[in-house]
Amino acid sequence: MTKALSPFSLPCDVGAIYQGDALELIDQIPDQSVSLVLSSPPYNIGKSYERGMFKSLDAYRDWMDALISKLLDKVKPNGHICWQVGNYVRDGSLIPLDYLFFPMFEKRGCLLRNRIIWRYNFGLHAQRRFSGRYETLLWFSRSADYEFNLDPVRVPQLYPGKRHSKGKGERAGQPSGNPLGKNPSDFWEFDPSMAFDGKPVWDIPNVKANHPEKTDHPCQFPNELADRCILAMTAEGDMVLDPFAGAGTTVVCAESRGRIGIGFELDADYTQQANQRLSLARNGELPIRHSGIGPKQPKSGERVSTVPEEWLLQASE
Ligand SMILES: C[S@@+](CC[C@H](N)C(=O)[O-])C[C@H]1O[C@@H](n2cnc3c(N)ncnc32)[C@H](O)[C@@H]1O
Repeated sequence: MTKALSPFSLPCDVGAIYQGDALELIDQIPDQSVSLVLSSPPYNIGKSYERGMFKSLDAYRDWMDALISKLLDKVKPNGHICWQVGNYVRDGSLIPLDYLFFPMFEKRGCLLRNRIIWRYNFGLHAQRRFSGRYETLLWFSRSADYEFNLDPVRVPQLYPGKRHSKGKGERAGQPSGNPLGKNPSDFWEFDPSMAFDGKPVWDIPNVKANHPEKTDHPCQFPNELADRCILAMTAEGDMVLDPFAGAGTTVVCAESRGRIGIGFELDADYTQQANQRLSLARNGELPIRHSGIGPKQPKSGERVSTVPEEWLLQASE
């Protein structure tokens, strides 16, 4: 259900998605209270939720610049911003939106930690250029003082059986990797067979039945993308804000990890749907795919693909 807003202050101690214009609602968030802004803004490319709202590139830039200025006042000095974007298309020519957004954050003192490539394996088939199969996520810290929790987001080693060579002194012969897994790197790919049950489709609303969490929102990003950012950049009880909440992915993932997710969404139907998903998540009734944690059994029988006995013993202790 859509929550009514107090004219003076938005309750920021319980997760919810609020209906309205992000540029106005943002004023109700206390300054320096947000640990992570995690969002994907409208790209101004004529999506169903953008009908009647098309802007020139200059007007779009001005709008986003005004919003980002306000947003950054709300972020804690040791907080983070994850801004996920694709391309804007003008007369058939692409303008990468991260290129447009980078200076808006940089000129306000934000520090780019990673420009993450999110690769997906499905989508429209282009006729006069190569088909687009990735978008980017700009991760900024608000200052040089920031936390990054790598362990909860490590992914399985490809070759857990690799060992240090003779030249490594005392470590020679010991497993060279980390038993918790490896750094997921700045190239993110989520298993499409998991996400779409073997029928990969991107941006086609009528495939929702094939996807465990798919709603009819045309631009929902995968849970794992939100989950990884939330685990790596926040702690339990922190506030995570999504000014363009859509189907509520950020808010739902934040809640499922013990954070407080606050979202804004202009569209009343999406807002209602997102709050319904949040209620289901609270009752443990929403299927959520969390990101892979810790080592899994490798598929191949190669020696370097075998989990070291030492790690198995450690895990059983
Ligand atoms: C790219 S989608 C976000 C999708 C979201 N990440 C998800 O996983 O579902 C952008 C959303 O911003 C919403 N929106 C557009 N203009 C807005 C505004 N002025 N204030 C708040 N939301 C807005 C759109 O309705 C759309 O749902």
